[in-house]
Amino acid sequence: MRGLADKTAVVTGGLGDLGYAPAKRLVEERCRVAILDAKPDEQNRAQAIGATHWQVDITKVEEVTPAFDQIAERLDRCSILVNSAALLIFKGIDASLDEFQRICNVNVAGTSLVTAAAVAHMKHNNGGSIVNFSSISGFIAQPQFATYTATKFAIRGLTKAWALDLAQFGIRVNSLCPGSIYTAAFVTRCKALGKDVETEDAKESKAILLKRQGRPEEVASVAAFLASEESSYMTGADVLVDGGYTTV
Ligand SMILES: NC(=O)c1ccc[n+]([C@@H]2O[C@H](COP(=O)([O-])OP(=O)(O)OC[C@H]3O[C@@H](n4cnc5c(N)ncnc54)[C@H](O)[C@@H]3O)[C@@H](O)[C@H]2O)c1
Repeated sequence: MRGLADKTAVVTGGLGDLGYAPAKRLVEERCRVAILDAKPDEQNRAQAIGATHWQVDITKVEEVTPAFDQIAERLDRCSILVNSAALLIFKGIDASLDEFQRICNVNVAGTSLVTAAAVAHMKHNNGGSIVNFSSISGFIAQPQFATYTATKFAIRGLTKAWALDLAQFGIRVNSLCPGSIYTAAFVTRCKALGKDVETEDAKESKAILLKRQGRPEEVASVAAFLASEESSYMTGADVLVDGGYTTV
């Protein structure tokens, strides 16, 4: 894709399936990729795809600032940011204050902190592209999803606010909104709820126009498109990658 080769990309939450797939795709497009994730990379998954891992909690300024300094030094200043890191806390009206504070702190405040650090690099580079992971949960209600839904609507709001503020610096900002994607997070959620993974997969698939859950690579290709110059006239947009789930 045009405009990706030799760029430095930062992918937060890059050890989760939906961060890892874009990181891999951006390496394939010849970007230098930094994965920022709170988890240690015990299996050297970043190195396996030609990326570099920084263990960073995106809510901690004392971790984010030095990481971006080191990225500039080792890989060059970043021109692409993929904000994938998130907590997946699914609670309805009974959510505790602590649950709300934790999810908003990571998904909204942490995402904003990382974006500010990346924007400083992008201004220096006279431009950049930011891809924010929202979700179909940023469009519609789902049972017992209030905590998560609040943050995914917030991401779409941040996208539009930042698109407005940053256009003057040549920085584009768009939201990527996946539907049901077959990921480790899906499997973990099924198990946590005591549900059979195959049965749940079949149930989810039934409600999707394309009759199956998506694959991480199908989200990664759209992330790469939004990061690239192929989407040069897009900013402040929401791009649904949901197999048609929200169409009917
Ligand atoms: N999986 C899906 O079907 C789906 C659907 C729609 C949207 N999304 C969105 O895609 C993104 C990635 O989802 P996923 O399935 O890969 O989830 P995941 O839970 O597997 O990965 C999230 C990653 O974020 C990291 N993280 C969490 N808190 C962090 C912090 N404070 N600092 C740094 N890293 C932190 C985790 O360590 C993890 O590696 C999320 O924004 C999610 O809301 C996922």
